[in-house]
Formats: sequence, C-alpha cells, structure tokens
Amino acid sequence: MKNWEQCWLPDEENREECAVRCEGFDPSGSHRVLSTATEELKRYGRFPKDAEVLIVLDDKLPPESYAYDSGTLKLTVADERGAVYGAFHILREQKIHGGTSPSFGPCIPDNPFRMLNHWDNMDGSIERGYAGLSFFFKDGRILNGDRIRDYARLVASVGINAVVINNVNVKGDATWLISDRYYRDLSELSNTLSLYGIRLFLSLNYAACMDIGGLDNADPLDPGVISWWKERMKEVFENIPNLGGFLVKADSEGRPGPFTYQRTQADGANMLAEAVREYGGTIIWRCFVYNCMQDWRDRKTDRARAGYDNFIGTDGDYADNVILQIKNGPMDFQIREPVSPLFGGLKKTNMMLEVQIAQEYTGQQIDVCYLIPLFKEVLGYHTEAPDAEGDTVAEIIAAKAKGHRVTPGMSGIAAVSNMGDDPNWTGSDLAQANLYGFGRLAFDTSLSAEQIAREFLAQIWPGKAEEVLLPILLTSRATYEKYTVPLGIGWMVRPATHYGPSVDGYEYDRWGTYHRADHLGVGVDRTDAGTGYAAQHGPAWKKIYEDTDACPEELLLFFHRVLYTDRLRSGKTLIQHIYDTHFEGVSEVEANMESIRSLEGILPEKIYGRIMERMERQLYNAKEWRDQVNSYFFRKSGIPDEQGRMIY
Ligand code: GCU
Repeated sequence: MKNWEQCWLPDEENREECAVRCEGFDPSGSHRVLSTATEELKRYGRFPKDAEVLIVLDDKLPPESYAYDSGTLKLTVADERGAVYGAFHILREQKIHGGTSPSFGPCIPDNPFRMLNHWDNMDGSIERGYAGLSFFFKDGRILNGDRIRDYARLVASVGINAVVINNVNVKGDATWLISDRYYRDLSELSNTLSLYGIRLFLSLNYAACMDIGGLDNADPLDPGVISWWKERMKEVFENIPNLGGFLVKADSEGRPGPFTYQRTQADGANMLAEAVREYGGTIIWRCFVYNCMQDWRDRKTDRARAGYDNFIGTDGDYADNVILQIKNGPMDFQIREPVSPLFGGLKKTNMMLEVQIAQEYTGQQIDVCYLIPLFKEVLGYHTEAPDAEGDTVAEIIAAKAKGHRVTPGMSGIAAVSNMGDDPNWTGSDLAQANLYGFGRLAFDTSLSAEQIAREFLAQIWPGKAEEVLLPILLTSRATYEKYTVPLGIGWMVRPATHYGPSVDGYEYDRWGTYHRADHLGVGVDRTDAGTGYAAQHGPAWKKIYEDTDACPEELLLFFHRVLYTDRLRSGKTLIQHIYDTHFEGVSEVEANMESIRSLEGILPEKIYGRIMERMERQLYNAKEWRDQVNSYFFRKSGIPDEQGRMIY
C-alpha cells in the first residue's frame, strides 16, 4: 500500500484498457518515454468502448509540443515527451469535463527548461523544506522505487522536464555524488526520471576538486583544476545516463567560488561548461551572489545591488552551454520585491528565472499563499519601460525578447521545490496549487492565475469546494502581504527560521536586510541620493522608481524612506495604512476560515482536517504579525490608530 497520494492525477479505476497505436516512430528504437504515454492513456484514459487512440509523430512541430483531435482520437506529437504531455493533457481534460476531452493544440511549451530545484540534503533533511523529509535521500543513501516513479509522474503531468535533486549548498556526502560511491544509485534514479522525459541535474560543489580531488586550489584558470574537472566529468557522464548537467551556487553565503582566485563568475562557469560540453551538458550558474557579512551601520552597501553589480560586467562572456539562473527579485523571495534588473540588463547571456514555491518567506506551507499571481507579475514585467514591447521577463526567458542574443533552447524557469515525503507531497494541501501552477505556468506563461487555480481545483476538489477555495487561493497572496511586511520593505521575519514576525530580527545583523525605521519614518532610499539601486533598472524605470508619486505604491518602502505622516494615494497616512492593512489581513484570514468550515463533510475528512489545522496556525501567525508590526510602529511613532483599535 502506498502511503502517499496522487494529488490532481486521475485515480486508477477498474476500467477497460483502451487500445493505443503509435505511428511514425522508428521501429528499432526502445521508446521508453512513448511507452509511458501509452501506458497512461491505457490505464487512466476514458474512451468509448473498443476505441483506439492514435499517437502520431509529426516532426514539423516544435520540440515537446502536441495537438489532439477528439473526433478521431488522434494525438499528434513532436517527440516522445510531447506524447507524455499530450497524454496528461487528455487525462486532465477528461477529469475536468467528466469523461471526454475536447480537441486542443497545438500546445507548444514557452520555456525550454521547466525545472524543479530540490534543496534536499543527503541525510534526508530538506533546507527550507515544509513537507516532511526528502524522498531522494536518507542517511547518506539515494532512494529509488515507487515513490520516485510517482514523483516523476506527478511533475511530468504538469510539464516539468528537468530536476535538480540535491541542495544548492553542497557539503559533506553530497560532494561525493560525482564519484563512484553513488554512480550506480544515481543511474537507477536517473533511469526512473527518464521514463517521464525528465533530465537529472545535480548541484555541484565548486570546490570538489579540492574536497574530493585533493587539489590545493580551485582556480578556474589553473591547468590542474581544468584537467581534474575534464576527467571527472567524463567519468560522471559515462556512468550516469540522462544527466543534463549541474547547478552551481558559487561565492555565496559561504560557498566557494572563483572570486577567491580573483576570477570572474564567467571564468568559473566556463571552466565547468568546457568540461561538460562534449556530453551535451549544461551549467546553470546562480546569480545569488552578495556580501553576507555586511555592517548594518553601513548605508552605502546595498544587498539589492549585488546581483547586478557582480554579473553585469560579464554579459557576453559565457559559453553557450551556460545559463545564469536569476532569482525573481534582487533580494530573496520576499512577498514583494521589484523584478531583478539583471533580466533587462544582460543582453548577450542565457538566462533562467528562479522562483520559490517552497514558501520560505511566504508562510511556510502553513499559511495559504498561492504564488502564481506573484509569478505572473514577474513574467509580465516590462524590463525596458512600462510601454515597451518584446521586453517582458516571460519573453526574455523564452528567448523571444528583442535585443537579447541567446542560445536557442538554453533558457527557462526553475522553482525551488515545495515537496517532501508527506503523504500529500506539499504538507499543506493548498500548497499543491503552487506545484501544479508552477508547472502549468512554466509550460504556458499566458495562462492566468485564475485559470490555473480553476483547473487545479476542478481536478482535485470540484463543485462546492472549488467555489469556496477559488477566491481564497486568488486573494491569499494579497492577504499574506497585508498582515506581514508593508509596501515592499521585506524581511521583518524571525531570523534563521523565517517564519513569524520579528520586526528588528534582521535590522542589526550582517545579512544586508534593513528597514531603517526610526521615530519619524521607515524605508530605504534606493534613489541616486541613497544606494543608487534604482538606476540598475535603466532610465525609464529609474525615473518611475525614484519619483515617490510615480513609484508603484506596493514598492514604496523598498525605494524610499517615507514619513509616517506622509499621505499615500488613498489619502491615508503611511502609519494608518500600516495599521489598517494589518487589521484587514487578519479579518480576511478569519473570513477564509469561516468559509472553509462550510466544507466540512464535503471535502474528504482527512483533507478537511489538514486544511483546518493549518488555518488555525495561520490565524495565530497572522495575529502575531498584526500585533507585533502595529505595536512596533505605534511605539516608534507615538501616533495612535485613528480607529482606536487595540495596539499593544
Ligand atoms: C536563502 C535561503 C537559504 C538558501 C539561499 C539560496 O537565503 O534562506 O536557505 O540557501 O536562499 O537560495 O541559496
């Protein structure tokens, strides 16, 4: 008996298997991925009795795409992966429409890379994991088996085609993943993933040549280092089939990197890229490089600037099998940040967007926070100017933007995973919507947050539950933002765990995360008069961000220091806005709880119980946030709430 659930996927029922015929595929090939597609249709498809589904190869279609004609039951596919995605699309439509799927397509993925980054450690723990333990690793060993197969099935069903299985912070045993200690187990795991068209990636320790290779340095231009990596990569690719390449966190938060040797990030990335080139490997190099040993007294150094400052000078220097992976904002997955200026800034570099569906700063899969609206904002952001064309983040990562020179097929989107070995995979049942939504959005960035939520709910909890849960999901990001951190300033979380409020938790620390509140006002001046960060966005956005009247209000405190008595566009003072939003946020959580109560007896008991238990914790958390933030600003400013509500 499996002790885990199948989420949105169709349950196996005792139905007659349909016939599936394939046409156009080379008869001498093994077609393991195609077999997966036919198996899915046979076991889970609902077709008229005696029907035959036809999967036809059409090499005129772009990679991974497909189209379906419901009249003839013909699924036309570009390749085997296209067959898997097409099959899951049919199953999805059948589930939503109570049996039959309409015709659709051609469906062409927007992004070549649609990736999950797992931050799993080899002892079984997960960095920023909120859904149990790792299903990839335990006690230094690699796990394989049914759970991995169901994992692959689940994520392939929403179009994921690449996964990194280990934490970006590569230490201890994980450094040895590129050694014969793990080749056999990794190749088994990789084979399982490959059944669903998923390529395996590993996070790499940049200093592996020292830690396991015995070299005395990791200088990317040192011939000894270069040849160590060349040999090692030959061995690794010979032993692990279906390996796509590596993800590297270098020179960041204590991890080693090329800066130690006065080399650029490009020197480091290119050295590794050369070593994997022969095997079609890709190096995904993260831009999360900043000084985490800052002095809080220093007002000139601005962490928000770091990514751009460290990488912009290397634009055009990267090998064509390197992709820079850039977090959506310049800080670190806060509930509100501007979009990273690197997307618009880099013009001759392959890029991938990194988002986080693990809700590290957004409620940790306790508080409901449907993140697709946030991701939509990022994807839709115009990097040049609000009215420019061909310059959105979605277009840039799909390699369709104007004025960007990139390697075809070398871009896309990655999410830090929110999965673990909990029975429902994501701890919170509602957090499944982020996993589902990320995959769907990565495949088709034109889908709206609402379409995705509807689709998700219609498959998993249709009817009354869908009606109740849809508005909760769609407003959850705004609700969370209201009761937590005001107007884009970020942080204010408890250090280390990052759950719950601690307004000054990071204020006098080394991490570069300050709100600078005093008795008169709050916010960081990032105009030219301050840290100068706004200018990284180019002239059009600089003008907007630097002008308090034009700056998007939700980012006001990110870009400006504002007095408590200053008026916002609503006519309210800043301080009153802070008080009001915090009271509103808690009321919204209370209202959500009330409406979810109406689902008792409608949702399966176990799921209802799990959701309510988390809602209780969310409400407790929301009240803590409200009362701590409001009291903090009341005590700093001495200005009472106009409505005389309770502030401590
Ligand atoms: C955040 C997070 C870390 C993580 C890091 C990263 O800082 O708190 O746990 O390692 O991001 O993205 O590398």
